[in-house]
Amino acid sequence: MHEVAKGLAGIIVTETTASMVDGSAGHLTYRGYAIEDLTTYANYEETAYLLLHQRLPNLHELTDFQQSLGTQMALEPHFVEVMQRFPKNCHPLTILRTLISMLGVYDPTADDNSLETELHKAYRLIAYTPIFTAAWSRLRRGLTPIPPDKNVGLAANLLYMHTGLIPTPAEVAALNVYLILMADHSLNPSTFTSRVVASTDSDIYSAITAALGALKGPKHGGANEATMEMFMEIGNPENVPSFFTEQVKGKGRKIMGFGHRVYRTTDPRSVILRTHAETLAKNSDNTRWFDIAAGLENLALADPYFMERRIYANVDYYSSVLLYMLGIEPDLMPLVFAIGRMAGWVTHILEQRLENRLIHPEAQYIGENDRVWVKLEDR
Ligand code: ACO
Repeated sequence: MHEVAKGLAGIIVTETTASMVDGSAGHLTYRGYAIEDLTTYANYEETAYLLLHQRLPNLHELTDFQQSLGTQMALEPHFVEVMQRFPKNCHPLTILRTLISMLGVYDPTADDNSLETELHKAYRLIAYTPIFTAAWSRLRRGLTPIPPDKNVGLAANLLYMHTGLIPTPAEVAALNVYLILMADHSLNPSTFTSRVVASTDSDIYSAITAALGALKGPKHGGANEATMEMFMEIGNPENVPSFFTEQVKGKGRKIMGFGHRVYRTTDPRSVILRTHAETLAKNSDNTRWFDIAAGLENLALADPYFMERRIYANVDYYSSVLLYMLGIEPDLMPLVFAIGRMAGWVTHILEQRLENRLIHPEAQYIGENDRVWVKLEDR
């Protein structure tokens, strides 16, 4: 019998130069750059370029990259026709997963895995994900999709296409911070999924479709939605103590947006997001959601159960407040996560292609042996 690492915890299955997560120190870097610097100085496109090309772009390269994304941002009629037939109450991440799969249907180069073509498809995937997200957010409300503004960046465009309003610089900055923080996180479940699919030499659209399936669960990318729903259930900062006593302590309910497989200290992304969520809340004169989040976090941090297990707020905790303050409904939050993570997924798929070996772990068989065959009529 071999020792089984349930959930592959602590198992190193590949090498990467994309991002480094130090779970004990609470430190995250992309290609060697600290997320604290990236969220202070860069925008999402600069970060995506860094991940994809392994270095920061110069001004010319960044402009080219942004223009290249801009020219690919277009919602062709065949997508709108199909979207109009989708049931409006379907989970939006299921819609996005289906549309990304469809993107492969309409790409004649889908099965060409050469590096140059893959890079082009990577740009395409980064450009289309916000388009699909915003278009569905409007179509399901009975509104017409808004074409992107080619003169603004991805974060500003997402907010504009979603609401139809020009976002404020503070809103764009907050969304850029969020997207940068979501851009990569080593071998998380959805990224691992994408690499497993890519390792079979399957196409990039299949790999991303599979990643979106892994992202959907509330233990991963669905956690921001579940967190915001929990805050809405609490409803008011005054209800936080009774929620903590009755639901968390009394009924053993998990605090959504808390806990992490790798971090055994504060998730560094949560620290940055807390500051931005608080600023947005104060600027909007609506601090209700931030106050609920901060109140619940304070109670958990002082509680022996959470202290002993070293469970802290993760990236989804304050990001749910931040996204809600930007007008993103809870069930769209996992899609905005996907928009950010797209840079990381495509980077890892390209990395997998460069030194590919089929990912094929093994399982310890613990079932019965030597069973005697019983004929169908005798069972
Ligand atoms: N609230 C209360 N208790 C918790 C929480 C939480 N949020 N998270 C973990 N615990 C407890 C578990 O019940 C378990 O207790 P036990 O030792 O008494 O059995 C212990 O902490 C260890 O938890 P596991 O679930 O075994 O840890 P694992 O590494 O497998 O799971 C996970 C991590 C899935 C993230 C978990 O913490 C969780 O479900 N959190 C809530 C959902 C969430 O926020 N997910 C987003 C993660 S970040 C991301 O993917 C983007």
